[in-house]
Amino acid sequence: MKIGILGATGEVGRQFQICLNERVSGIEELRLFASPRSEGQVMEFQGKQCVVQTVKEGCFDGLDYVLGSVSNGLSKQYRPMIEKSGAVYIDNSSAFRLDPDVPLVVPEINGEDALKHKGVIANPNCSTIITYMAVAAIHQKLSPIKKVIASTYQAVSGAGAGGPIELHDQVLAIEKGEAVEPKVFSAQIAYNCIPLIGSINDNLYSTEEMKLQNEGRKIMHAPELLATCTCVRVPVYRSHSISAVIITEEPVSIEAAEEAIASFPGTVLLKDKLPMPLDSSDQDLVYVGRIRRDLTDPNGLVVWCCGDQIRKGAAANAVQILEYLEAHK
Ligand SMILES: NC(=O)c1ccc[n+]([C@@H]2O[C@H](COP(=O)([O-])OP(=O)(O)OC[C@H]3O[C@@H](n4cnc5c(N)ncnc54)[C@H](OP(=O)(O)O)[C@@H]3O)[C@@H](O)[C@H]2O)c1
Repeated sequence: MKIGILGATGEVGRQFQICLNERVSGIEELRLFASPRSEGQVMEFQGKQCVVQTVKEGCFDGLDYVLGSVSNGLSKQYRPMIEKSGAVYIDNSSAFRLDPDVPLVVPEINGEDALKHKGVIANPNCSTIITYMAVAAIHQKLSPIKKVIASTYQAVSGAGAGGPIELHDQVLAIEKGEAVEPKVFSAQIAYNCIPLIGSINDNLYSTEEMKLQNEGRKIMHAPELLATCTCVRVPVYRSHSISAVIITEEPVSIEAAEEAIASFPGTVLLKDKLPMPLDSSDQDLVYVGRIRRDLTDPNGLVVWCCGDQIRKGAAANAVQILEYLEAHK
């Protein structure tokens, strides 16, 4: 198998290399692409030295898959070149997620959608993946989910490689009594929470917040699903957490929900421990817990979940899509 990584030097791109090494055998060639800033940088993969290249005409030729982790604009710019090469493009940006010709896939939830691809498959938003991984079992096995009301607690690494550096530098600066000047985030993130991620739409929700409804409908095959969300950036390095109230068509007992979640692939139900981002980092499982009745609606359940957004929310999910395609050839 010949694989390319577009955005190989970034937060998700580096994790792609770790996930491929852990999960995929028989990789004959790994080609790494980044910006001109990183051209010539050497990265080691499975004992071989890979030299980072810039994107040029024909650079994707001969590849079976391209795993993408660049911005929306760059993803749109490079898509025609990848399609021309014949490689399947599995993209982490939000550029094509709602395109009806592009499957939006979380393998445990709707893996079969990947098989209908026309050359491009999109990986959903990171908080969206983690939230629906936590509750898909209820939707698929017990009663369809009609509504989701959620707040996210999103780690700084979700903003790319610059996020953790900004948090670290701000903590050091504040300890020294120096002033901080936010660059990656819209306000100081050290010792703070920022209740806005993305830009604000006409309906006063942010682009990031609308993904829970728009992408959720596509992944869950639930075109009527309603989701209200508040996305918050918190000073946590890695792993997003989500507090969600889900309203189902029929009442679901806590015991039935717990049983369904515990038996769903890729999720872990924690009953004697709290699911927390420090514990869910650096691995692929979504941790779910604190399940209780919603006190405002007899068909409501409250759920807390967390998962590593660079792994299950991005790189690992995309590698799982690749594995799914290979397994169904
Ligand atoms: N971080 C997350 O948790 C997360 C989760 C889900 C989805 N995503 C999505 O994944 C994508 C990447 O995010 P990230 O967090 O990995 O960002 P990042 O750390 O900022 O990395 C961006 C990557 O894009 C490369 N790049 C920049 N300009 C380029 C160009 N002209 N040609 C080719 N490559 C170029 C960068 O290369 P240089 O190093 O050379 O600048 C770097 O490798 C984004 O669309 C993001 O929304 C991120």
